[in-house]
Formats: sequence, C-alpha cells, structure tokens
Amino acid sequence: MAPIRDQIVDDLKNTISRLESRISELEGQLGHGGSSSSSSAEGVRMILIGPPGAGKGTQAPRIKEKFCACHLATGDMLRAQVTKKTALGREAKKIMDAGGLVSDEIMVNMIKGELENNAECKSGFILDGFPRTVTQAEKLDEMLTTSRKPLQHAVELQIDDALLVSRITGRLIHPASGRSYHKVFNPPKDAMKDDVTGEPLIQRSDDNAETLKKRLGTYHEQTSPVVNYYQKTGIWKPIDASQEPGQVWQSLLKVFDSKVVVGGQSGSLLNKLGLKN
Ligand code: AP5
Repeated sequence: MAPIRDQIVDDLKNTISRLESRISELEGQLGHGGSSSSSSAEGVRMILIGPPGAGKGTQAPRIKEKFCACHLATGDMLRAQVTKKTALGREAKKIMDAGGLVSDEIMVNMIKGELENNAECKSGFILDGFPRTVTQAEKLDEMLTTSRKPLQHAVELQIDDALLVSRITGRLIHPASGRSYHKVFNPPKDAMKDDVTGEPLIQRSDDNAETLKKRLGTYHEQTSPVVNYYQKTGIWKPIDASQEPGQVWQSLLKVFDSKVVVGGQSGSLLNKLGLKN
C-alpha cells in the first residue's frame, strides 16, 4: 500500500471538520444543541438494551430523575394491561409467561401513542425494553425522523447469562409504581413491602428459572441483532452491567457526559475515525 502523504491527511481533516460543522448546524436546526454534552436542560432521548435482569428497570428511574424525561417500560405497560384484564392483557400474559415476544405492530403502536401524547415525553424519553426486534428499531427510527428528534444514545447493558438467574429469581416488584427490589442485592426496608407506600411486593409470574431460559433464548435470537443495528449508527454505548448498581450508574453518567453523536452514516464515519465521543 502506498504511504499516506501529509496532504491526504490534511484534506481528510478538512473534510471531517466541514462535516462536523455541517452536522452541528443540522443538529441546531433539529433543536438538540449541536455536539455539546447531554444535560438535564436539553433532555435525553435514549434506549436501554439488555437481557432480562441486566438492570434496565433499576437504572431507568435514575435517568428519568436526572433528565425529567418519561420512562417507557414496555414490559410494565403490558403488565398494566394484564392487571386491567383487557383482551391485549390476556393475550400478552400467555406470551410473556412463555418467554416470547408480543407482536411488533402492537408494541410499535403502544410506543408511538406514548411519544405523541404523553406530556412527560416532551422533555425526552428513556425506552426500556423497546425496541426488541430489528423491525421495532426501524419503525422507531421512522417515528423519530418524522418528529425530527433522533435518538442520542443506545445503551447496551452487557452481562453474562449465568449472573442473571439469581437476579431474576430474587426480584420483587411493587406493581403500582414498577419499583423493583431484590431479596438479597436490594432488599426492601420491611420484608415484602414497598419502601414508599408500604404496599405488598410481588414476584412476576415470568420470573422463574424455566421461563428465564426461554426469555434469554428469545433475547439472543431476536434482540441481539438490534445491538448490531445500533452499532452501525454511532450512538451505541456498551456498559458492564455486572458491576454493582452504583457503578453501573457511574458508567451511565460517563455516557451522558460524552459528546452527543449523530446516528446514521455520517455519525458512524466520524465515530470510527475517533473524532466524536
Ligand atoms: P420486560 O418487563 O421488559 O422484561 P425483561 O426485558 O425481561 O427485563 P426485566 O424487567 O426482567 O429486567 P431488567 O433489566 O429491567 O432488570 P431489573 O433492573 O429489574 O418484558 C417482559 C415481557 O414483556 C417480555 O418477555 C415480552 O414477552 C414482553 N415485551 C416487553 N417489551 C416488548 C417488546 N418491545 N416487544 C415484544 N414483547 C415485549 O433487575 C433485575 C433484578 O436484579 C432486580 O431485583 C434488581 O434489584 C437486581 N439488580 C439490578 N441491577 C443489579 C446490579 N447491578 N447488581 C445486582 N443486582 C442488580
């Protein structure tokens, strides 16, 4: 291969600098503050990807508090339907207890409705458990392109399957708020009672070793490709989710302190060249 000359390097730097300026200009037009760091004033638009028990539901409320954004947990939304005994709830319960996925169409419409109508989502959103298939990711991109509010972060909580069994089988839930505890790792102040309301805690019907095996299978088969999808956009950020919750939070804060990059091909190019983030 011929040696790379200074002139070529300078030309490349100029091109990249022009691209960065153009991107900042376009971001400004989209209303999310160019390449500055994320802050609570700017809000946040992000997704949390990770297998069952990775800690999505544990970290999302902290992010919500930091950015005053809405936290949309599709599993919680489906469980609300189960509690209300709607037709969707009855169908969803069967699928959830079997460790499968509810149809893309239903889930996409659910998220679309919230993003369009939920006032809390105006200052940003954290999607927890969505998108779970490449089709859902593509539909989300379409929605956000239409609303001119592209995603800023696709955070993947990475953890070995072997560590998830004890997390899932020991989890306790406060159904009304979605707050989660753990019998050993994060016990409530009073056994089986929510710290805030004192109401009883429950175990989810899909939180057993047998269903977990199926949920993990579904994750690796259908949701891992979603990670590959975001790896190509420049907004994918991996985090070691086997650390204790406070350390996972510190890793998340570093993500928010990093520069906001742009999804799509230009973001991917700049990211690969190490000029963003
Ligand atoms: P959903 O409710 O989203 O379940 P999930 O993805 O399997 O995730 P979990 O809620 O089990 O785990 P988490 O990562 O939130 O863990 P948590 O923070 O609570 O979905 C349920 C079902 O709904 C799906 O199986 C599917 O059928 C359906 N569904 C949902 N979305 C869908 C979609 N988009 N498309 C189609 N179908 C959909 O932590 C777990 C436990 O570990 C807790 O007890 C916690 O205290 C503890 N813990 C957390 N972090 C740590 C840590 N760092 N160290 C030690 N312990 C920790």
